[in-house]
Amino acid sequence: MSKILIIGACGQIGSELTHKLKEIHGSENIIASDISRSNMDIVNSGIFEILDAKDYDAVKACVEKHDIDIVYLMAAMLSGTGEKFPMKAWDLNMNSLFHVLNLAKEGVIKQIFWPSSIAVFGPTTPALETPQHTICEPTTVYGITKQTGERWCEYYHNNYGVDVRSIRYPGIISWKTMPGGGTTDYAVEIYHKAITQGSYECFLAEDTELPMMFMEDAIAATIGIMDTPSEHIKIRSSYNLAAISFTPKAIFQAIQKHIPNFSISYKPDFRQRIADSWPKSIDDSSAKTDWNWQHKFDLEKMTSEMLTQLRDKYKSTEKII
Ligand code: SER
Repeated sequence: MSKILIIGACGQIGSELTHKLKEIHGSENIIASDISRSNMDIVNSGIFEILDAKDYDAVKACVEKHDIDIVYLMAAMLSGTGEKFPMKAWDLNMNSLFHVLNLAKEGVIKQIFWPSSIAVFGPTTPALETPQHTICEPTTVYGITKQTGERWCEYYHNNYGVDVRSIRYPGIISWKTMPGGGTTDYAVEIYHKAITQGSYECFLAEDTELPMMFMEDAIAATIGIMDTPSEHIKIRSSYNLAAISFTPKAIFQAIQKHIPNFSISYKPDFRQRIADSWPKSIDDSSAKTDWNWQHKFDLEKMTSEMLTQLRDKYKSTEKII
């Protein structure tokens, strides 16, 4: 049985991935880690280590202590926060990747999952059905780190045989753990505000279309690519991945079908420029062909699920309007 380390296990995707991997492989084989105990659900639900992903010696010591075979490196500074702290974003996003790539190169670990993002694309990229192989001129620090990371992943695979796998996540929507510091975070916040306040002020303009995905699909994709036999993984930089594309106006209208009095206003901030530089929709045919990727949730199905789960979550707090 493989031993798996999740770095960044308290975050939006890391926390749900940790729970799913425990279900599949058994709690005793999953080691969750993060820089702080910011998610007590994760901290209390099995083996947990405090780990700074930037510290090579600490990462190596943790891997050796638990005899780790597979690392999911989910720690990252996202697009919005990255613009405020460019050097910190570069430091965290790049050095954490080099640490796990080098551990795999040395044969200490066998397999790596590292997420890339739609942020590798930029204003010169074709915005509709963005192809797998296309112009990538990112304008955010986050995008630059992800694009650079993709090049290094491919390099380590080609030159050192490292089994690293990656997907370019779109905006991920979920109800368990809040995202932090991203440009697509509005699509999570809007559901919380619909339930607790009945109104939402959106930081993107109403017609800003972006590629998005429900968490359940994102977790299925992550585990799907990792479970695929190595010879089928033809792209070792990162796979395009798609599910749904929508605008703030469209998600507002989908919520309004359930909450007729819900209202929205728009006050674009610095994240508008980031969103405008990203694609509207993604061609993920390589992922479909190579490892049978298929999404399940559309906007309607996701909206029903988000509202049901969040109503339940807020029930005991009396925050529901
Ligand atoms: N959700 C990310 C962000 O908005 C994109 O990968 O930064």
